[in-house]
Amino acid sequence: IPVQPFDMVIFGGTGDLAMRKILPALYYRDKDKQMPVEGRIIGISRAKITQEDYIAQAKAALVEYVAAKDLDDDTEARFLQRLHYFTLDAKGDNGWQPLIDLLAARPQVVRAFYLSTPPKLFGPICQNLARKNLITESSRVVVEKPIGTSLASAQKINEEIGAVFQENQIFRIDHYLGKETVQNLMALRFANSLFEPLWNHQWIDHVQISVAEAIGIGGRGEYYDSSGALRDMVQNHILQLLCIVAMEPPVVFGADAVRDEKLKVLRALRAIGPREVRQKTVRGRYASGAVDGKSVIGYMEEEGVPQDSITETFVAIKAEVDNWRWSGVPFYLRTGKRMPERRSEIVIQFKETPHLIFPKNVNQVRSNRLAIRLQPKEGIRLYLMTKVPGPGGMRMRQVPLNLSFAEAFQDRFPLGYERLLMDVLRGNATLFMRRDEVETAWSWCEPILQGWAEMSEKPQSYNAGTWGPTSSIALVERDNRTWYEEG
Ligand code: BG6
Repeated sequence: IPVQPFDMVIFGGTGDLAMRKILPALYYRDKDKQMPVEGRIIGISRAKITQEDYIAQAKAALVEYVAAKDLDDDTEARFLQRLHYFTLDAKGDNGWQPLIDLLAARPQVVRAFYLSTPPKLFGPICQNLARKNLITESSRVVVEKPIGTSLASAQKINEEIGAVFQENQIFRIDHYLGKETVQNLMALRFANSLFEPLWNHQWIDHVQISVAEAIGIGGRGEYYDSSGALRDMVQNHILQLLCIVAMEPPVVFGADAVRDEKLKVLRALRAIGPREVRQKTVRGRYASGAVDGKSVIGYMEEEGVPQDSITETFVAIKAEVDNWRWSGVPFYLRTGKRMPERRSEIVIQFKETPHLIFPKNVNQVRSNRLAIRLQPKEGIRLYLMTKVPGPGGMRMRQVPLNLSFAEAFQDRFPLGYERLLMDVLRGNATLFMRRDEVETAWSWCEPILQGWAEMSEKPQSYNAGTWGPTSSIALVERDNRTWYEEG
């Protein structure tokens, strides 16, 4: 679907996110001919550089973050021509006039203000945009996590943005929703009739959602230490995945219909009170170890981490959704840094067959399992029991029916931001978080954080390159279940 003429104004235009994600994603859309000629991209920052410098920076970013085979001179020239740059004080009054003049010439085009800045600037920038009369009817604002570090701070940010923009003009990015495989989860559930009748407590034993990363915290010590795995990954990405797995079929694939259903799931999440955190959650922190054959330092040795830190880099949670569909079905969630490999996967474990007709001594009949691999090696595997060929009787083995997206589709997998940025310009908020979703997710996380704060204990140690502290294994084994490591 083509995009209308637009002005995209990126505050934090020289920052890491702009260079690594936003500009490369826009480049790809330009290459695929989705950008109208009248699309302009306006970088804003405090840096006193010229427009030529900015274009040179952008060019270098493309070379670094766009695959070499996808770089071509025509697209590059066309794309770089769209770029403008202004130095201005986003919180104050200095330097705004050139931006005002540039935008004033085209008041009718879609205006997207992308706040790629620390959240404490969201409020002041929004106020300035209003004060300078830059907000038109077709304006919208884009913000990224972290939207708060608690319910109160999230509410404050939402209030500040909401004082200037209507909810339908606010696009809160959760980049997981831009991933092809996450969108595909909705296709799997709602474009196939096969699964829906089975998608409930009668047939499903439990669900596992694992987002494992091999990387550590890199140079982000300061940010990460004030966040931790629950705030950094669970409050947003993992709860969004849980919502998509657990939600009722929306009436249409539209912004409010989808988000209404996700919100119901968040509201149905059983609270884990401060006194239950020991039983239902596990916090871990990586010690030194080896990942991929390379030795790596522990979290406490990372730059920017204070000596008295008790921040977690791993979390496992037994969550429950208290509604008719999911009664008695645990959702085991886990995420961590410095795990053996990067792998995000959702596993739906079905129940056993009601009655076994085959002799138990020769067969280990296992129940069916659906594994949805979000990254890498994107695909879906449905584990089925099959007879092992041979005359020896009914011997069976579980074998996966394997759908590999790379094999099924030869196309390039677009970057998550490509889809999300085009949706911003088209005004489609289906894959963005609504205010009530963000705040309800915080309401669920908060008692857990409070319980941990009351315990005031160091997280349990795990060696880098392992699947987390042993107690996270105990968390599921207590229920006679086991984490799946498909490999
Ligand atoms: C970000 C977190 O939101 O998601 C990072 O802040 C994390 O800590 C990243 O590494 C993971 O994203 P992806 O797309 O690599 O799975």
